[in-house]
Amino acid sequence: MDTETRTGTPSRSGPDWDPRSWRDRPALQQPVWPDDAVHEAVLDEMRELPPLVFAGEARDLTEALAAVTRGEAFLLQAGDCAESFDTSADSIRDRLRVILQMAVVLTYYTGVPVLKVGRIAGQFAKPRSSDTETVDGVELPSFRGHIVNDIGFTEGDRVADPTRLLTAYHRAAATLNLLRAFTKGGFADLSRVHQWNREFVADSPAGQRYEELAGEIDRAVQFMRACGVTSDRLAELSQVDFYTSHEALLLGYEEALTRRDSLTGDWYDCSAHMLWIGERTRQPDGAHVEFLRGIHNPLGCKVGPTATADEVLALCEALNPDRTPGRLTLITRMGATKVVDSLPPLLEAMRDAGHPVVWVCDPMHANTFTADDGRKTRHFDDVLAEVSGFFAAHRFVGTIPGGVHLELTGDDVTECLGGGAEVATADLGQRYETMCDPRLNGQQSIDLAFRLAELLRNGHR
Ligand code: PEP
Ligand code: CO
Repeated sequence: MDTETRTGTPSRSGPDWDPRSWRDRPALQQPVWPDDAVHEAVLDEMRELPPLVFAGEARDLTEALAAVTRGEAFLLQAGDCAESFDTSADSIRDRLRVILQMAVVLTYYTGVPVLKVGRIAGQFAKPRSSDTETVDGVELPSFRGHIVNDIGFTEGDRVADPTRLLTAYHRAAATLNLLRAFTKGGFADLSRVHQWNREFVADSPAGQRYEELAGEIDRAVQFMRACGVTSDRLAELSQVDFYTSHEALLLGYEEALTRRDSLTGDWYDCSAHMLWIGERTRQPDGAHVEFLRGIHNPLGCKVGPTATADEVLALCEALNPDRTPGRLTLITRMGATKVVDSLPPLLEAMRDAGHPVVWVCDPMHANTFTADDGRKTRHFDDVLAEVSGFFAAHRFVGTIPGGVHLELTGDDVTECLGGGAEVATADLGQRYETMCDPRLNGQQSIDLAFRLAELLRNGHR
């Protein structure tokens, strides 16, 4: 990877694109920085910093996503709604662990490899439906994620501080370092499937079910050993590939981490392996689409219930004009009651246009409601119902449902209702810790993995 940072050289993305070309388009959801010069000075400093990921890794992920379009793998993209600068190492480990456990459940029951992509190591920026928030008659700027301001409700907390961009970069680097150590250094070894469960969900119904499965996997590994499968083949079970992703919301930050790959001459946004465009910033002629169309990372784009087939087609044409399999993932978030009606026309239109989309279901963002106690929540049953409707829509059209996109944590929080351990409205206050949207806790996540595996096994895919 070349750390070349100049932006004037012609790009393979075409003479009409460079990492700054988004600046000529309307950019929604950008913070108002008190002093533009300070913001630009921070970006200049970031241009000199090492890339967080490498172009070759992003290309590997595109390849792996291409396998998803062929039905040869299933994508599990999951993590926090909004990462915090204060996340502990234990909490990062637990989030990874719950994703690995879910992947084991899904792989075991479906026989299909699970591609693991975290909403992690960079998921710091949040789009907001309103620029301000009013509490007890006091109006302040909205919290936009730790990369912009603080969640406390004072004027000082809510000032957009560009030095936070640098902190975000360093937090992302530290998180990624830990993830690389865990996934390549033995923690992810399949012989530890039991250990992952210990001090965690072992005593819950989902945990007990997982415990039984871990026993079966142990026996399978012993069987392979006994059959003479050599230890270097078994060593492959000790490492996993784990990729990072986040919403590419703050375009200055993403631009500053964009580098030209010395091998291919192509531009890559080296802040994460995969970047996605949110539901609020997917205007085909907007700044976000302009920026992302020129980078060669695999891309995601959220698609909500108001999206028309023509709009989605315009996005596919802008973001994947060459129709490269694995390049574009459409993350649909329709709502449990709407998915069966809203999704099929989009699936048909992209299929007829020959776009090789990775179709992924985000069953979280259109199923949020306010509980009686005033907290934002989601019900496990709605989450499951949207996934089930997503599979049904694909079955109906004959397209391939590629995976799921979830907000979860390994921590024992009480933010979403229902699930095997039945979190009730009265329980929400016990451990409601999210800085933005409600996340599935560890037990609910494992529970969901079993339910998903059942849907997949019963021919819903
Ligand atoms: C999110 O993924 O946290 C989010 C804000 O989603 P959406 O863009 O789909 O609303
Ligand atoms: Co969210």
